[in-house]
Amino acid sequence: MSPDRTVLEKDLELTVRELSETYEELSLLYKLTETLSGMSADEITEQVVGEAINTLDVKTAALLFLDEENGRLYTKSFRGRWDAGIVVSKGDEIIWNAVQSRKPVAFCNLYDAGFRNYSHAERSILVCPLKGKSRTIGALVLADKENQEEFYSNDIKLLMAIANHAALTIENALLYKELEDFLISAIRALVKALEASSRWTAGHTERVTEYAVNIGAMMGLSGKNLERLRICSLLHDIGKIAVPREILNKNDVLTEEEEKEIRRHPLIGAEILGGFAQLRDVVQGIKYHHEWWDGGNSLLGLKGEDIPLCARILAVADSFDAMSSDRPYRRKKTQDEAIDEINRLAGRQFDPTVVEAFMKWISQHPTFSP
Ligand SMILES: [Fe+2]
Repeated sequence: MSPDRTVLEKDLELTVRELSETYEELSLLYKLTETLSGMSADEITEQVVGEAINTLDVKTAALLFLDEENGRLYTKSFRGRWDAGIVVSKGDEIIWNAVQSRKPVAFCNLYDAGFRNYSHAERSILVCPLKGKSRTIGALVLADKENQEEFYSNDIKLLMAIANHAALTIENALLYKELEDFLISAIRALVKALEASSRWTAGHTERVTEYAVNIGAMMGLSGKNLERLRICSLLHDIGKIAVPREILNKNDVLTEEEEKEIRRHPLIGAEILGGFAQLRDVVQGIKYHHEWWDGGNSLLGLKGEDIPLCARILAVADSFDAMSSDRPYRRKKTQDEAIDEINRLAGRQFDPTVVEAFMKWISQHPTFSP
C-alpha cells in the first residue's frame, strides 16, 4: 500500500469517526429537547440522570444542585452507587472544583492521580458543571464505566452537551415554578380575603383544594395537570366576589332570587379571569363546576365528558365540603352521611369515575375528618 493511500485511509477513518460522534451528539440533543420540554425540574433531573447513565454506560450517575448560601452541593437525582443523602462540600477537590471553575473535570485513574480515598467514585470520574444563563446550578457526575475503560474526549463532549442543555431547561423550569408559587400565594391571599368577609365559607376553598388534588392524583393526574387542578380549585368560587355580602352571610334559607344571584358565580368567576391567557383551562374548570353529569340541573347546559375534567372533580370536592359544613338553614352531615350522598348522586350529579376515585381516596384516610 502506498504511503499516500495509508494517509488517505486514516483521514477517512477519522472523518467517519468524527461524523458519527457529531451525529450521536446531535441525536442525543434532539432527543433531550423533545423529552424535557414542559417537564418540571424534578422530572428533568430524573430524565437527565437516566440519559447520562445509558449514553455513557457508567455504574453511577448523579445530579447535584448547588446551595450557594451554605457552600455545598446536595444530591437531587442519582442512579447506581450513590446515595440520596450525599452532600459534596467546599473542600472537595474534584466535584466542587468543577463547579467553581465552570469547566468539566475528568480523572481516568483516581488512584494514580493521587486521590487514594476518594469516596464518590471507585476508579474514574467525569464531572460537568450545570451552567445556567444567570448562574451555576450544580453538577452532573458520572463515575466508573461498566467496561472499566477510561473517559475519552468524546465522552466529555457528550456529557457537556447533556449538561448544558439540562442546565438551561432546569433553570427555566425553576423560574417557572417560582412564578407559579408566587401566583398561587397571591391567589391564596385573595381567596382568604374573600372568605374573611363571609361567615359560612371560612376554609372552604383550602379544603376543596385538598380534596380535589387528592382525587386528581388518584385518577392519575400529575405535574402540570395536577397544578392546573390546584389553581382551578383555589379560584373556583372567586365569582362570589360579585355576590352581595348580605346574601352570602344570610342566616336563613335563601329566596329564589337570592339563589339565582349565587348561581351566577361560576360565570362571573370565568369572566373575571377570562383575560388571563395562561389560565384558559383553569377558567373552563371554574365556569362549569356546577354542571351536572347527566345534564339534569346544569347551569350552562353541559353534560357528561363535555364538562371539563377539572370541573367534574371540583363538583365532587365542592359538594362534599358543602355537605360536611354547617349552613344557616341546616346542620352539617356526618362524614358517612356525606359519603352516602355523594355515592347516591354518582351518575346523576357527579361523574361516576370521579366518585370512584374520591371513595378510594377517602377509604385510605379513615381518620380523615372534614
Ligand atoms: Fe361554587
